[in-house]
Amino acid sequence: MSGNTSQLQVGDKTVDMAIKQGSVGPAVIDIGKLYAQTGMFTYDPGFTSTASCESQITYIDGDAGVLLYRGYPIEQLAEHGDFLETCYLLLYGELPTAAQKADFDYRITRHTMVHEQMARFFQGFRRDAHPMAVMVGSIGAMSAFYHDSTDISDPQQRMIASMRMIAKVPTLAAMAYKYTVGQPFVYPLNSLDYTSNFLRMCFAVPAEEYKVNPVLSRALDRIFILHADHEQNASTSTVRLAGSSGANPFACIAAGTACLWGPAHGGANEAALKMLEEIGSVDNIPKYIAKAKDKNDPFRLMGFGHRVYKNYDPRAKIMQKTTHEVLNELGIKDDPLLDVAIELERIALHDEYFIEKKLYPNIDFYSGITLKAMGFPTSMFTVLFAVARTVGWIAQWKEMIEDPSQKIGRPRQLYTGSPQRDYTPIGRR
Ligand code: SDX
Repeated sequence: MSGNTSQLQVGDKTVDMAIKQGSVGPAVIDIGKLYAQTGMFTYDPGFTSTASCESQITYIDGDAGVLLYRGYPIEQLAEHGDFLETCYLLLYGELPTAAQKADFDYRITRHTMVHEQMARFFQGFRRDAHPMAVMVGSIGAMSAFYHDSTDISDPQQRMIASMRMIAKVPTLAAMAYKYTVGQPFVYPLNSLDYTSNFLRMCFAVPAEEYKVNPVLSRALDRIFILHADHEQNASTSTVRLAGSSGANPFACIAAGTACLWGPAHGGANEAALKMLEEIGSVDNIPKYIAKAKDKNDPFRLMGFGHRVYKNYDPRAKIMQKTTHEVLNELGIKDDPLLDVAIELERIALHDEYFIEKKLYPNIDFYSGITLKAMGFPTSMFTVLFAVARTVGWIAQWKEMIEDPSQKIGRPRQLYTGSPQRDYTPIGRR
């Protein structure tokens, strides 16, 4: 590499490729002309060394354990701001003034109700459906109810669709929970802040007054901030790819929700809690550490490891602190799952295998303990992740749509199947 170009020798050809440097972080080699000049593709399953786009939203330094939303460290946003302030920041690129924040809160609050007919849409699901299945279906169904904000070429419609999703996904999430527990849906209350409103829609019942616990509401609001965006992760890349075809925003967010559900991604918080319950006690930890290290055993420590973080996930540290805050507020003195989690982390962080592979707790390791203590069933954990990540998906989708160089995403492949051959009639096979 020299200056701002790199050269690739392919046979007797030398291909010059531009090097682009961002504001911070790794530079990129622009390989856009490689196929035209060499007839070859690059090959990078899982995209471990591939930048799919240029973005100004979120920056992660995996080695240093740094996470910035529009340049602001996650620790400062979680400490000083609220989730809707983070939503404004991710969408517009700057922290809001007091007037802008008040206007944004007002607009979001007044979009929290869903079309009344969506309540009947839920009746089509079995009561024992996984809430994530309900979320994928109902978010996708929003394009059948709000088709007056699906024209992606209209900036006004793009913004209305964005507001509607940030505002209505928590309502749909609470409805998904109520539906599975057989309780009546609870309408949003405009006098409550975003997260208190969500808690009330989940846990209020018509039979009595529901009083929001401000400590729990603040804790969940902070958890939403931690989960809001995370660069080009699998579900965000899904949203971008779906959006690149011109699909409507509701369909794109539904696609991202489906991808998030996987246990290697957003489903890890549910899987991590089930793993802690399976381990059951501190005495069983060595057996599970051995399983995690055994190449022939598919078992992995859920909530551990990360494609980008090769240091402690900064969100996990804040998550751990929030766990203690919530357990203290609820008077839960000794949670056996927390004891297992803390001892598992201690052992793993001193184990050669985890040190050599740079496996640290990620955001999903502690979140399940906190959410369970708050009263959410395990099946709702990934739904809560989706509630928070909706703004990140939308901000990334909006950035892609507004990028003048945007085109449909269409990767190629290394073909190792059969070369061309002729059809054999069935009688001669
Ligand atoms: C999220 O991308 C994001 O930003 C995601 C996310 C976001 O905010 O959007 O941060 C949210 O998805 C967090 C990650 C949640 N997933 C889990 O906790 C599931 C458990 N973790 C692993 O499945 C894994 O660590 C991944 C999927 C998270 C990352 O996998 P990679 O980057 O593809 O790494 P890898 O599978 O190639 O693992 C490298 C090595 C392997 O060993 P070798 O083949 O090199 O010998 O580390 C081992 C793996 O076997 N390894 C683990 C492990 N994670 C990786 N071994 C035991 N337990 C684990 N958890």
